[in-house]
Amino acid sequence: MSNWVQGKITEINWWTDKLFTIRVKAKLQPFKAGQFTKLALIVGDKRIARAYSFVNSPNDPFYEFYCIEVENGQLTSALASLHVGNEIWLDEEPSGFFTLDEIPNAEQLWMLSTGTAIGPFLSMLQDGDMWNRFSHVILVHGVRYAIDLTYQTLIESIQANQAGFSYVPVVSREMCIKGLEGRITKVLDEGTLEHFVGSSFHPNKSQFMICGNPQMVKDTTALLESLGFSRNRRASPGHITVEQYW
Ligand SMILES: Cc1cc2nc3c(=O)[nH]c(=O)nc-3n(C[C@H](O)[C@H](O)[C@H](O)COP(=O)(O)OP(=O)(O)OC[C@H]3O[C@@H](n4cnc5c(N)ncnc54)[C@H](O)[C@@H]3O)c2cc1C
Ligand SMILES: NC(=O)c1ccc[n+]([C@@H]2O[C@H](COP(=O)([O-])OP(=O)(O)OC[C@H]3O[C@@H](n4cnc5c(N)ncnc54)[C@H](OP(=O)(O)O)[C@@H]3O)[C@@H](O)[C@H]2O)c1
Repeated sequence: MSNWVQGKITEINWWTDKLFTIRVKAKLQPFKAGQFTKLALIVGDKRIARAYSFVNSPNDPFYEFYCIEVENGQLTSALASLHVGNEIWLDEEPSGFFTLDEIPNAEQLWMLSTGTAIGPFLSMLQDGDMWNRFSHVILVHGVRYAIDLTYQTLIESIQANQAGFSYVPVVSREMCIKGLEGRITKVLDEGTLEHFVGSSFHPNKSQFMICGNPQMVKDTTALLESLGFSRNRRASPGHITVEQYW
Protein backbone atom coordinates (compact mmCIF):
# COMPACT_ATOMS: atom_id res chain seq x y z
CA MET A 1 0.00 0.00 0.00
CA SER A 2 1.33 3.42 -0.92
CA ASN A 3 1.56 6.13 1.69
CA TRP A 4 0.95 9.29 -0.36
CA VAL A 5 2.63 12.57 0.57
CA GLN A 6 2.34 15.83 -1.28
CA GLY A 7 5.34 17.46 -2.94
CA LYS A 8 5.85 20.69 -4.83
CA ILE A 9 7.48 21.04 -8.25
CA THR A 10 10.47 23.37 -7.90
CA GLU A 11 12.06 23.00 -11.37
CA ILE A 12 11.16 21.63 -14.78
CA ASN A 13 13.71 21.27 -17.56
CA TRP A 14 12.58 20.27 -21.05
CA TRP A 15 15.56 18.70 -22.86
CA THR A 16 13.60 17.94 -26.07
CA ASP A 17 9.92 18.09 -26.99
CA LYS A 18 9.45 14.68 -25.24
CA LEU A 19 12.13 14.40 -22.56
CA PHE A 20 11.94 16.39 -19.34
CA THR A 21 13.30 16.47 -15.82
CA ILE A 22 11.34 17.55 -12.77
CA ARG A 23 12.65 18.47 -9.36
CA VAL A 24 10.35 18.05 -6.40
CA LYS A 25 10.48 19.19 -2.82
CA ALA A 26 8.88 16.64 -0.49
CA LYS A 27 9.53 14.64 2.67
CA LEU A 28 10.20 10.99 1.83
CA GLN A 29 11.85 8.12 3.64
CA PRO A 30 15.58 7.73 2.79
CA PHE A 31 16.37 5.93 -0.49
CA LYS A 32 19.35 4.13 -1.98
CA ALA A 33 20.74 5.15 -5.38
CA GLY A 34 19.00 2.98 -8.01
CA GLN A 35 15.67 2.87 -6.19
CA PHE A 36 12.40 4.41 -7.35
CA THR A 37 9.25 5.83 -5.88
CA LYS A 38 5.78 6.33 -7.30
CA LEU A 39 4.57 9.69 -8.60
CA ALA A 40 0.86 10.30 -8.92
CA LEU A 41 -1.61 12.91 -10.13
CA ILE A 42 -5.36 13.02 -9.97
CA VAL A 43 -6.62 12.68 -13.54
CA GLY A 44 -10.41 13.03 -13.77
CA ASP A 45 -11.56 11.39 -10.57
CA LYS A 46 -8.74 8.83 -10.41
CA ARG A 47 -5.25 8.85 -8.91
CA ILE A 48 -2.87 7.67 -11.65
CA ALA A 49 0.44 6.42 -10.23
CA ARG A 50 3.61 5.17 -11.92
CA ALA A 51 7.15 4.25 -10.86
CA TYR A 52 10.05 6.71 -11.40
CA SER A 53 13.70 6.23 -10.50
CA PHE A 54 15.51 8.87 -8.48
CA VAL A 55 18.17 10.66 -10.53
CA ASN A 56 19.58 12.73 -7.66
CA SER A 57 22.06 11.47 -5.10
CA PRO A 58 20.47 10.26 -1.83
CA ASN A 59 22.34 13.15 -0.15
CA ASP A 60 20.65 15.91 -2.16
CA PRO A 61 17.99 18.11 -0.51
CA PHE A 62 15.56 17.59 -3.46
CA TYR A 63 14.20 14.75 -5.59
CA GLU A 64 14.81 14.60 -9.32
CA PHE A 65 13.04 12.43 -11.93
CA TYR A 66 13.82 12.07 -15.64
CA CYS A 67 10.73 11.37 -17.75
CA ILE A 68 9.58 10.84 -21.31
CA GLU A 69 6.17 11.99 -22.43
CA VAL A 70 4.69 8.81 -23.88
CA GLU A 71 2.09 9.30 -26.62
CA ASN A 72 -1.35 9.08 -24.94
CA GLY A 73 0.44 8.00 -21.75
CA GLN A 74 -2.01 8.13 -18.88
CA LEU A 75 0.30 9.76 -16.36
CA THR A 76 3.01 11.32 -18.51
CA SER A 77 0.48 13.37 -20.51
CA ALA A 78 -0.58 14.94 -17.20
CA LEU A 79 3.02 15.21 -15.88
CA ALA A 80 4.02 17.05 -19.05
CA SER A 81 1.51 19.83 -18.37
CA LEU A 82 2.78 20.61 -14.87
CA HIS A 83 4.37 23.93 -13.95
CA VAL A 84 6.75 25.07 -11.23
CA GLY A 85 4.74 25.50 -8.02
CA ASN A 86 2.22 22.74 -8.86
CA GLU A 87 1.66 19.91 -6.40
CA ILE A 88 2.26 16.22 -7.03
CA TRP A 89 1.76 13.07 -4.98
CA LEU A 90 4.72 10.84 -4.11
CA ASP A 91 4.87 7.49 -2.38
CA GLU A 92 6.73 8.21 0.86
CA GLU A 93 8.47 4.80 0.82
CA PRO A 94 11.11 4.25 -1.91
CA SER A 95 11.34 0.72 -3.37
CA GLY A 96 13.51 -1.52 -5.50
CA PHE A 97 16.53 -3.78 -5.52
CA PHE A 98 18.38 -2.30 -8.50
CA THR A 99 21.05 -1.00 -6.14
CA LEU A 100 24.80 -1.38 -5.78
CA ASP A 101 24.55 -3.38 -2.56
CA GLU A 102 22.99 -6.20 -4.66
CA ILE A 103 26.06 -6.29 -6.96
CA PRO A 104 29.12 -8.45 -6.21
CA ASN A 105 32.47 -6.63 -6.14
CA ALA A 106 34.28 -6.68 -9.48
CA GLU A 107 36.99 -4.93 -11.45
CA GLN A 108 34.47 -3.49 -13.95
CA LEU A 109 30.88 -2.35 -13.69
CA TRP A 110 29.03 -1.94 -17.01
CA MET A 111 25.89 0.21 -16.71
CA LEU A 112 23.71 -0.38 -19.77
CA SER A 113 20.69 1.91 -20.23
CA THR A 114 18.19 3.04 -22.85
CA GLY A 115 16.19 6.29 -22.81
CA THR A 116 15.19 7.64 -19.42
CA ALA A 117 16.67 4.58 -17.70
CA ILE A 118 20.00 6.38 -17.49
CA GLY A 119 18.43 7.98 -14.39
CA PRO A 120 19.20 5.34 -11.73
CA PHE A 121 22.81 5.15 -12.96
CA LEU A 122 23.23 8.92 -12.64
CA SER A 123 22.02 8.63 -9.07
CA MET A 124 24.59 5.89 -8.34
CA LEU A 125 27.37 7.85 -10.04
CA GLN A 126 26.61 10.95 -7.97
CA ASP A 127 26.34 8.96 -4.75
CA GLY A 128 30.06 8.25 -4.82
CA ASP A 129 29.78 4.93 -2.98
CA MET A 130 30.99 2.87 -5.89
CA TRP A 131 34.45 4.18 -6.63
CA ASN A 132 36.27 2.01 -4.09
CA ARG A 133 34.38 -1.14 -5.21
CA PHE A 134 34.92 -1.03 -9.00
CA SER A 135 38.10 0.29 -10.64
CA HIS A 136 36.35 0.91 -13.97
CA VAL A 137 32.71 2.02 -14.36
CA ILE A 138 31.29 2.26 -17.88
CA LEU A 139 28.03 4.13 -18.49
CA VAL A 140 26.42 3.15 -21.81
CA HIS A 141 23.37 5.16 -22.96
CA GLY A 142 21.35 3.89 -25.92
CA VAL A 143 19.01 6.40 -27.57
CA ARG A 144 17.28 6.90 -30.91
CA TYR A 145 18.68 10.35 -31.77
CA ALA A 146 21.73 12.37 -30.66
CA ILE A 147 19.40 15.02 -29.18
CA ASP A 148 18.21 12.36 -26.67
CA LEU A 149 21.74 12.26 -25.15
CA THR A 150 20.79 14.37 -22.16
CA TYR A 151 22.62 15.16 -18.87
CA GLN A 152 25.86 15.98 -20.72
CA THR A 153 27.02 18.60 -18.20
CA LEU A 154 26.65 16.19 -15.29
CA ILE A 155 28.35 13.37 -17.21
CA GLU A 156 31.24 15.65 -18.21
CA SER A 157 31.76 16.65 -14.59
CA ILE A 158 31.93 12.97 -13.55
CA GLN A 159 34.41 12.34 -16.39
CA ALA A 160 36.54 15.24 -15.18
CA ASN A 161 36.61 13.98 -11.59
CA GLN A 162 36.79 10.17 -11.90
CA ALA A 163 39.71 8.55 -13.71
CA GLY A 164 37.99 5.14 -13.77
CA PHE A 165 34.85 6.35 -15.53
CA SER A 166 33.93 5.88 -19.21
CA TYR A 167 30.81 7.17 -20.98
CA VAL A 168 29.59 5.63 -24.22
CA PRO A 169 26.65 7.19 -26.08
CA VAL A 170 25.03 4.77 -28.54
CA VAL A 171 22.66 6.28 -31.13
CA SER A 172 20.46 3.99 -33.24
CA ARG A 173 18.73 6.19 -35.82
CA GLU A 174 21.40 8.60 -37.02
CA MET A 175 25.15 9.11 -36.98
CA CYS A 176 26.84 9.46 -33.61
CA ILE A 177 29.83 11.77 -33.64
CA LYS A 178 31.20 11.12 -30.16
CA GLY A 179 30.03 7.55 -29.58
CA LEU A 180 28.79 4.46 -31.37
CA GLU A 181 26.04 3.86 -33.89
CA GLY A 182 23.41 1.12 -33.58
CA ARG A 183 21.76 -0.60 -30.64
CA ILE A 184 23.45 -1.66 -27.41
CA THR A 185 22.98 -5.31 -28.45
CA LYS A 186 24.77 -4.67 -31.76
CA VAL A 187 27.77 -2.88 -30.24
CA LEU A 188 28.09 -5.60 -27.60
CA ASP A 189 27.83 -8.41 -30.13
CA GLU A 190 30.24 -6.89 -32.65
CA GLY A 191 32.85 -5.98 -30.02
CA THR A 192 32.77 -2.28 -30.93
CA LEU A 193 31.76 -1.36 -27.37
CA GLU A 194 34.85 -3.04 -25.87
CA HIS A 195 37.00 -1.51 -28.57
CA PHE A 196 35.62 1.99 -27.90
CA VAL A 197 36.18 1.65 -24.15
CA GLY A 198 39.62 0.06 -24.62
CA SER A 199 38.83 -2.77 -22.24
CA SER A 200 37.24 -6.19 -22.63
CA PHE A 201 34.72 -7.90 -20.41
CA HIS A 202 35.08 -11.35 -18.89
CA PRO A 203 33.13 -13.36 -16.27
CA ASN A 204 36.18 -13.14 -13.96
CA LYS A 205 36.12 -9.36 -13.78
CA SER A 206 32.84 -7.85 -15.01
CA GLN A 207 29.42 -7.00 -13.61
CA PHE A 208 26.52 -5.73 -15.75
CA MET A 209 23.53 -3.67 -14.65
CA ILE A 210 20.90 -3.28 -17.37
CA CYS A 211 17.93 -0.91 -17.24
CA GLY A 212 15.28 0.36 -19.65
CA ASN A 213 13.32 -0.93 -22.63
CA PRO A 214 12.19 -4.47 -21.64
CA GLN A 215 13.10 -5.99 -25.00
CA MET A 216 16.58 -4.45 -24.78
CA VAL A 217 16.93 -5.89 -21.26
CA LYS A 218 15.86 -9.36 -22.46
CA ASP A 219 17.98 -9.35 -25.64
CA THR A 220 21.07 -8.01 -23.87
CA THR A 221 20.70 -10.55 -21.06
CA ALA A 222 20.40 -13.40 -23.59
CA LEU A 223 23.46 -12.13 -25.46
CA LEU A 224 25.56 -11.91 -22.30
CA GLU A 225 24.38 -15.36 -21.19
CA SER A 226 25.57 -16.75 -24.51
CA LEU A 227 28.99 -15.26 -23.69
CA GLY A 228 29.21 -17.07 -20.32
CA PHE A 229 27.72 -14.50 -17.93
CA SER A 230 24.88 -15.47 -15.59
CA ARG A 231 21.97 -13.73 -13.86
CA ASN A 232 22.84 -12.29 -10.45
CA ARG A 233 20.51 -13.50 -7.72
CA ARG A 234 20.82 -13.24 -3.98
CA ALA A 235 20.84 -17.05 -3.65
CA SER A 236 23.30 -17.52 -6.54
CA PRO A 237 25.50 -14.52 -7.31
CA GLY A 238 26.20 -13.91 -11.00
CA HIS A 239 27.01 -11.05 -13.33
CA ILE A 240 23.76 -9.60 -14.72
CA THR A 241 21.31 -7.47 -12.68
CA VAL A 242 18.31 -5.98 -14.46
CA GLU A 243 15.38 -3.56 -14.17
CA GLN A 244 12.66 -3.22 -16.81
CA TYR A 245 10.78 0.07 -17.22
CA TRP A 246 7.61 -1.40 -18.71
C1 LIG B 1 10.90 0.40 -11.61
C2 LIG B 1 10.49 1.40 -12.66
C3 LIG B 1 11.12 2.63 -12.73
C4 LIG B 1 10.74 3.55 -13.72
N1 LIG B 1 11.39 4.74 -13.79
C5 LIG B 1 11.10 5.60 -14.81
C6 LIG B 1 11.81 6.83 -14.95
O1 LIG B 1 12.70 7.16 -14.14
N2 LIG B 1 11.48 7.63 -15.99
C7 LIG B 1 10.50 7.30 -16.91
O2 LIG B 1 10.26 8.07 -17.85
N3 LIG B 1 9.81 6.16 -16.77
C8 LIG B 1 10.07 5.32 -15.75
N4 LIG B 1 9.35 4.16 -15.61
C9 LIG B 1 8.14 4.00 -16.49
C10 LIG B 1 6.95 4.72 -15.81
O3 LIG B 1 6.60 4.03 -14.62
C11 LIG B 1 5.71 4.77 -16.70
O4 LIG B 1 5.43 3.49 -17.20
C12 LIG B 1 5.87 5.73 -17.87
O5 LIG B 1 6.16 7.05 -17.41
C13 LIG B 1 4.61 5.78 -18.74
O6 LIG B 1 3.51 6.12 -17.93
P1 LIG B 1 2.14 6.56 -18.62
O7 LIG B 1 1.04 6.41 -17.61
O8 LIG B 1 2.26 7.91 -19.26
O9 LIG B 1 1.99 5.49 -19.79
P2 LIG B 1 0.95 4.31 -19.96
O10 LIG B 1 -0.36 4.89 -20.37
O11 LIG B 1 0.95 3.45 -18.73
O12 LIG B 1 1.67 3.56 -21.19
C14 LIG B 1 2.77 2.70 -20.97
C15 LIG B 1 3.59 2.57 -22.27
O13 LIG B 1 4.48 3.67 -22.36
C16 LIG B 1 5.76 3.27 -22.89
N5 LIG B 1 6.81 3.62 -21.88
C17 LIG B 1 6.69 3.53 -20.54
N6 LIG B 1 7.82 3.99 -19.90
C18 LIG B 1 8.64 4.39 -20.87
C19 LIG B 1 9.93 4.97 -20.85
N7 LIG B 1 10.58 5.25 -19.69
N8 LIG B 1 10.53 5.25 -22.03
C20 LIG B 1 9.87 5.00 -23.20
N9 LIG B 1 8.64 4.45 -23.29
C21 LIG B 1 8.01 4.16 -22.14
C22 LIG B 1 5.66 1.79 -23.15
O14 LIG B 1 5.31 1.61 -24.51
C23 LIG B 1 4.53 1.36 -22.24
O15 LIG B 1 3.87 0.21 -22.69
C24 LIG B 1 9.70 3.23 -14.63
C25 LIG B 1 9.05 2.00 -14.52
C26 LIG B 1 9.44 1.09 -13.58
C27 LIG B 1 8.73 -0.25 -13.52
N1 LIG C 1 12.92 9.33 -28.64
C1 LIG C 1 12.15 10.12 -29.42
O1 LIG C 1 12.62 10.98 -30.12
C2 LIG C 1 10.64 9.93 -29.44
C3 LIG C 1 9.87 10.78 -30.22
C4 LIG C 1 8.49 10.60 -30.24
C5 LIG C 1 7.91 9.60 -29.47
N2 LIG C 1 8.67 8.78 -28.72
C6 LIG C 1 7.99 7.75 -27.92
O2 LIG C 1 8.73 7.43 -26.76
C7 LIG C 1 8.78 6.03 -26.53
C8 LIG C 1 10.16 5.48 -26.74
O3 LIG C 1 11.11 6.37 -26.30
P1 LIG C 1 12.67 6.14 -26.30
O4 LIG C 1 13.24 6.52 -27.63
O5 LIG C 1 13.20 6.85 -25.09
O6 LIG C 1 12.83 4.58 -25.99
P2 LIG C 1 13.08 3.27 -26.85
O7 LIG C 1 12.07 3.08 -27.92
O8 LIG C 1 13.20 2.20 -25.82
O9 LIG C 1 14.49 3.51 -27.59
C9 LIG C 1 15.71 3.79 -26.88
C10 LIG C 1 16.85 3.02 -27.51
O10 LIG C 1 16.68 1.63 -27.25
C11 LIG C 1 16.87 0.91 -28.47
N3 LIG C 1 16.21 -0.38 -28.43
C12 LIG C 1 14.90 -0.66 -28.58
N4 LIG C 1 14.69 -1.99 -28.52
C13 LIG C 1 15.92 -2.57 -28.33
C14 LIG C 1 16.35 -3.91 -28.21
N5 LIG C 1 15.51 -4.96 -28.25
N6 LIG C 1 17.67 -4.14 -28.04
C15 LIG C 1 18.55 -3.10 -27.99
N7 LIG C 1 18.19 -1.82 -28.11
C16 LIG C 1 16.88 -1.54 -28.28
C17 LIG C 1 16.30 1.84 -29.53
O11 LIG C 1 16.77 1.43 -30.79
P3 LIG C 1 15.86 1.62 -32.15
O12 LIG C 1 15.92 3.05 -32.52
O13 LIG C 1 16.54 0.70 -33.13
O14 LIG C 1 14.46 1.17 -31.82
C18 LIG C 1 16.87 3.16 -29.05
O15 LIG C 1 18.22 3.28 -29.45
C19 LIG C 1 7.85 5.42 -27.52
O16 LIG C 1 6.59 5.29 -26.90
C20 LIG C 1 7.88 6.43 -28.66
O17 LIG C 1 6.73 6.35 -29.45
C21 LIG C 1 10.03 8.94 -28.67
